[in-house]
Formats: sequence, structure tokens, C-alpha cells
Amino acid sequence: MIAVFTRLLATRRGALAGLMALGLCSPAAAQSFPSKPVTLIVPFAAGGPSDVIARLLGEHMGRTLGQQVVVENVAGAGGTAGAKRLVAAEADGHTMLIHHLALAAAPSLYNNLGYDTQTAFAPIGLINTGPMVVAGKLALPPVDGKAFFPFAKLQADKLTVAHAGVGSNSHLCAVLLSQALGVKFAQVAYRGTGPAMNDLVAGQVDVLCDQSTTAVPQIQGDKIRAYAVTSAERLDVLPNTPTAREAGTDLDMTIWHGLYAPKGTPAAALDKLNGALKLALKDANVLERFKAVGTGAFPEAEWTREAHAKRFAAEIAKWAASLKAAGVAQQDVK
Ligand code: MLT
Repeated sequence: MIAVFTRLLATRRGALAGLMALGLCSPAAAQSFPSKPVTLIVPFAAGGPSDVIARLLGEHMGRTLGQQVVVENVAGAGGTAGAKRLVAAEADGHTMLIHHLALAAAPSLYNNLGYDTQTAFAPIGLINTGPMVVAGKLALPPVDGKAFFPFAKLQADKLTVAHAGVGSNSHLCAVLLSQALGVKFAQVAYRGTGPAMNDLVAGQVDVLCDQSTTAVPQIQGDKIRAYAVTSAERLDVLPNTPTAREAGTDLDMTIWHGLYAPKGTPAAALDKLNGALKLALKDANVLERFKAVGTGAFPEAEWTREAHAKRFAAEIAKWAASLKAAGVAQQDVK
């Protein structure tokens, strides 16, 4: 009996070694990744657009992976604190980061990030892309976009513009708005647009340029006023809100999110995470939730890890050039 068992074990080991030699079964895959819950770092406060997308995807990906995806908000310093936390994590696929174009803009804005943006991250896949919405508190006098931009130009020194920290989408949108109008606003920095939006609704700040993901529900609920969307076309879910161009201002901004692991994460784990992400992006409920808030998945041809890596490298170069041209000085991470 023992001899039969030993022979069987030897045969199985031999078969496994054979598969590995053929490259059909890697050691990482053989260890059945993931072996424990996967942490998904959100580099901004809870309730903001990155958090909303992360929770929606994380729930679906967890079902595919057979392990819970646990969202952890590591907010601060325009999203760079969360990125730093990912870089320090074990590169075994059990820690991911959701981030957007701010990850690519950060090396041009901060001079002591503590990691090299070009090499520190292993892109897993692109998620969604969509516009920003310029919105104001209900008590602001202008009732539409056409009235808002001339008002903002004249009253700039009296207006407070909220954002999620230097380098965040909302900050870059505020910078573009300032440039388009040729004025400077008083800026109020938060740890994410979740709390910034709460203060806009409460009338504590005047203006916020936020992703449609979290702006649309507040606009539809008549809690804030939409002045313009930063896309070339109006959004189906905000048919009465003009594009910035229609409202007379040259403000064009498209955001995107992607998922990352630390560099050195085994390819088998990255492929499994990418596969789970792809399934989430095909899910009718996920797509419906995206559509309801004016955002959308990337085209399927761009769902590969390679397409994400290509976009990330291009965005690092793009932001380096445009922030240099805009004369934005680098600052220390605080
Ligand atoms: C957030 O989730 O708070 C946003 O993504 C922040 C931003 O980039 O404006």
C-alpha cells in the first residue's frame, strides 16, 4: 500500500515538473494565487470617485478570485501617500492600488516621492475614462455655465475652489480653469473629493471640479449646480449641462483609472488579476453603474497589461511636458 502511494506521489511530482518545464504551470500558479484576501489601496478619502470605482470593481473581482478584495483608504499628499504604501507592500499580488492620471503627473509635481514612478509599478489594467464637471454651491449667483465663467473671472479673488490635493484630478482641473480664465482662486485642499463634495453641498466652499462619477448624483439630487462638463460632447446623464467650450471657455480634461501592483509581482498573479478585472468590465451591472454616472470602460482592445503600461508611460511624458510648459514648480511631499 505504502509502495503504491509513494509511486503515485512520484508520478504526480514528475508530471508537475514536466508541466513546469514546458512552461504550462508556473510555481506561482501552482500555489493557487490568491491565497488570502487582496488589499485594494484607494489613495483618496472614502466616498470619492476613486473609492466608488474601487468598491464596485473590488466586489466583482473578489467573486472571480475567490478571495475578498478589501478596500483600504490611504489618503494624503495628492494620492502619493497611497502610491508609496503600494510600493512598500510585498510584491506577491495580494496588494493592489487604484489610481488615475495623478500617479503619472506626480513626478512632475513632487521632488521627493520616495519611489521612481517609471519603474515602481506593475500595471494590471485600465479601468474607466470620463470627464470632470465644473460645479458650484447652490447659493452662487450664476445659474448656468454661460453666466458662471465671466462671473468666476470677475470674482476670482472672492471664490474658494476645493480639490483633493496637489496633483489630483480636481487640482489639475482647478489649475486648468485658472489658466483658461487668466485668474487665481483661493484653493482649499482636502484628502479626496469625497469630503470636498460634502463641503460644497454644505456651502462651505464655492466651486469644485470633480469627476462625473460623484458629481452626477449630487447634481441630479439638486444638491449642487453643474456649470460645464470638460468633455467634447455633453453627457447623456446631464443633457442640460453644456460642455465648457459651449459655455465659452477652453477647458478640456479626460480622466482615467488603472490598477497597479508593486514591481516584481509574478506575471501569473498579474495575469489572474487582469483576468478578474476584465470579467468585471464585461459585467452588465458594472457597466450600467458606470453609465449612470457618466463614465465608461476603456475599449476592450485596451484591457491588456501591455496597453496599460503603454498609456502610463505616455502619460508620464505628457504631464512632464505640459506641467513644465505651464511653469508649475515642483514641491516637497508634505
Ligand atoms: C478622489 O477619489 O477623491 C479623487 O479621485 C480625487 C481627485 O483626483 O480629484
